[in-house]
Amino acid sequence: MAKPALSMKPTGWFQVAWSAEIETGQIHRMKYFGHDLVAWRGEDGAVTVMNAYCEHLGAHLGFGGRVEGDRIICPFHGWEWNQQGRNVCIPYQDRPNRGRRIPTFPAVERNESVYIWHDLEGRAPYFDMPDIFDAYDDGRSSADYYLAYPEGILHHERLELHPQYVMENGVDYAHFKFVHRAAHVPEFTRQEFDGPVAYADFEMLFGGTKESTVLTPNGAMVGGVQAINVGIGVGFAKFWGPDNMRTIVTVTPVDDETADIRSTVWLDRLPGDTSAHQPASLERRMRMANNQYLADLNIWRHQRYTDPPALATAEGKGFSAIRRWAMQFYPLGEPGSASMPELQTAGTDAGPEVPENEAVRSSAALD
Ligand code: FES
Ligand SMILES: [Fe+2]
Repeated sequence: MAKPALSMKPTGWFQVAWSAEIETGQIHRMKYFGHDLVAWRGEDGAVTVMNAYCEHLGAHLGFGGRVEGDRIICPFHGWEWNQQGRNVCIPYQDRPNRGRRIPTFPAVERNESVYIWHDLEGRAPYFDMPDIFDAYDDGRSSADYYLAYPEGILHHERLELHPQYVMENGVDYAHFKFVHRAAHVPEFTRQEFDGPVAYADFEMLFGGTKESTVLTPNGAMVGGVQAINVGIGVGFAKFWGPDNMRTIVTVTPVDDETADIRSTVWLDRLPGDTSAHQPASLERRMRMANNQYLADLNIWRHQRYTDPPALATAEGKGFSAIRRWAMQFYPLGEPGSASMPELQTAGTDAGPEVPENEAVRSSAALD
């Protein structure tokens, strides 16, 4: 695949696992942002994500390494490394190598998931990874939903897909009719930005057609989606109306060509049911939610980033605003950053005609 037109090394929080996948004492191998990594959970419960290679002679800690207490021990010569990546013991010497450190990534657990902070410049996190149940300020909490793991998760690995495609889905009102078979085109009711967070809300009428009465046996009903993009790698959505659920879709670059994409769905609790996991009676609902996501994914995984896009007039505002906002996550000099030529996102009826050879030249300039 040709290199994507946008950097695969954006700054921000990125999901690398679901919490339940990393059990205490276990070492989990992974690759993100071009680095071989290990994630492990110490006996104190904290998850550490660090480079996979021992700083002594380069053994891979994920093949035969072990966790003891809050340390990871290398399988090759037994050197011990703590949760900050510091060497704390050389078993055949009376003092450790205090200066040596395995690079670690800031890691947090939120909403049954593990996120790492990635920044090419090595800056500490300058915004927090929010919690999807606090983010909407509507009085609801995780107790109002079933656990998402394992019933509500989908994981697709190493797709040729850029995180920004998923973010842009949040302003793409026109695709609801074609991809999600909505009977009505939704109304875009809010687009706001607050530093690294972007908000986009839609409302639409459900019901009145064969497809949508499946969703609403009780007739037409207003519903909508409130999307919150947290940086470029994490998209929250709250669905209200006929379907009440919360979802998080995350895209995490593996290398310069591919990314992992994860979907996590929390269905709202049936009245009076206190079980942690959703009952079998909600399987169909989960399948329907997953099918909507998979319909999007089928587009994203084969999509090519188009810049400038040929937008309809009414699409121009939402797309140009989110593309401008997204630039902040691309390091200077990387494709997509503010150091690159200004994006042109004029409507189709206003934009200049670009001869085909011009378009080819301008995309080649981004490589
Ligand atoms: S390579 Fe890890 S202890 Fe020697
Ligand atoms: Fe969609």
